[in-house]
Amino acid sequence: MEIDRAKNAVLPILAATLLSQTTTTLRDVPLIDDVDVLLRLMKIIGARIERSGHDIMVSLPTVATFEAPYYLTSRLRASFLLAGPLLGRFGRADMAMPGGCAIGSRPVDLHLKGFEAMGARVDLTQGMIRLRSEGLRGAEIHLDYPSVGATENLLMAATLAHGTTIITGAAVEPEVVDLGSFLLAMGARIQGVGTHLLAIEGVSHVGGALFAPIPDRIEAGTYLLAGAATGGDVTVRGVVPDHLASVLAKLKEGGCEIEVNGRDIRLRAGERPLATDIRTHPYPGFPTDLQAPFMALLCRGRGRSVIVETVFESRYNHVGELRRMGAHIRVDGQTAIVEGVENLEGVEVRARDLRGAAGLTLAALTAQGESEIRGAEYLDRGYRNIEAKLASLGADIERIA
Ligand code: UD1
Repeated sequence: MEIDRAKNAVLPILAATLLSQTTTTLRDVPLIDDVDVLLRLMKIIGARIERSGHDIMVSLPTVATFEAPYYLTSRLRASFLLAGPLLGRFGRADMAMPGGCAIGSRPVDLHLKGFEAMGARVDLTQGMIRLRSEGLRGAEIHLDYPSVGATENLLMAATLAHGTTIITGAAVEPEVVDLGSFLLAMGARIQGVGTHLLAIEGVSHVGGALFAPIPDRIEAGTYLLAGAATGGDVTVRGVVPDHLASVLAKLKEGGCEIEVNGRDIRLRAGERPLATDIRTHPYPGFPTDLQAPFMALLCRGRGRSVIVETVFESRYNHVGELRRMGAHIRVDGQTAIVEGVENLEGVEVRARDLRGAAGLTLAALTAQGESEIRGAEYLDRGYRNIEAKLASLGADIERIA
C-alpha cells in the first residue's frame, strides 16, 4: 500500500510558506481534515491557495487579518504554528487559544517563552493570545522539553529575526527535520537540523520553494499494526524505514516478521502477538501517536504487556472503549497494564481523538463479530481514505454516516 505524505510535516511546512512573499509549491499534499482546516485558516489570513491535482501552491502577498478565529483553532491545535511565521514576518499574530484532540492539557508555554526571549510581547486576554514585536531579535532559548510544535514555531520565527537564535533541547522528530529542510530550501540559514542544538542566523527575506514532504510514518505504522493485529501480511510502500525503527523493533518483539526492501516494509504476523512492553518517548523513541494502535494489538497478546505514556499526561481515552470489547486493561497514572485475552468481541464503541479512533478501528478488525465505531470522523483528520485502504488489505469495513 502506498503511504501518503506526513500530516505532521505538511502542517508546519504549510505554515512556513507564509514566511515568503513568493509562491511555494508542495507536492502530494494529502487531502485530510487537519490540512483542510489549516488551509481555511490561511485563506482567512489572506493566503492565496491553488490546487493542481495533489499539489498545493501557496502565497501570502498581503495580510487580510492577523486574527485566527476560535471556530477553526479549536479544531486544530497545530493552527498555533501560524503564530511563528506571522510574528516573524509581520510582527503580529492574534491566535485564539488552540484546541485539537482531547489528549492532555497541551499548553503552548514553551512557544510563548521562546517568542518572548526573541523580544515579542505576549498578551493573553479573552481567550486570545496576542503577539507583537517591532522586529524579532536572535536569542538563546532552551526548551525544557523537546516539544515538536515549539521547536517548529521558534525555527520559523527565528528565520526572519535580526541576528542568530540558538535553540537547545530542540525536538529531532523527522517532521521537524523536514520543516528544517524546507526552510533551508526557501533560503533560511540554519545549522544543526536533526540535532538538539539549532543555530538560526536570521535573513531579511526567504523565497519560494518546490518541496515534497516526507512520507507519513504514523500512517505506515498504523497499517503495519493492522497487519500485526489480524495475523496478516501487509506491505507499505514509499516510506523511510529508519523513521519507523522503534516501531519495527517492537513489532519484531511481538513476534512479527519484518522485511525491509529499500523504501518498502513487509510485515507477516502470526495468529496472536506476543506480549510487548512499550514506553512512548520523543523521537527516536516509540511514538505516542502509535500508542493506541499498539495497545489494540496487545489486547490479544499472549500474556501481560505494560505501556507507559510519557509524552502526554492523559492519552488513554480509548481504554474504556477497548474494555467494552472485552480487553483487560488497568490504568494507573501514565501506565496501562494489558492482560492479553484470546478474543475481543465486536460491540459499539466511541472514538474521542484521532489516534484513539485508529486504535479502536484496529481492535474492531480483530474482534469477533461486527463493531460499530462512533466518532469515526476523527479518522479523517489524519488518514486519507482509511476504509478503502483497510478494505484493500482485506478488511470488511464500511462507512455508515
Ligand atoms: C506533535 C504532533 C502530535 C504528536 C506530538 C508528540 C503535530 C501537528 N502534532 O504535537 O501528533 O503526538 O508532536 O510527538 O506535529 N508541551 C508543553 N508546553 C508547550 C508545548 C508542549 O508542556 O509549550 C507538552 C505537551 O503538553 C505534551 C508534550 O509537551 O505533553 C509534547 O508536546 P509537543 O511535542 O509540543 O507536541 P505537539 O507539537 O503538540
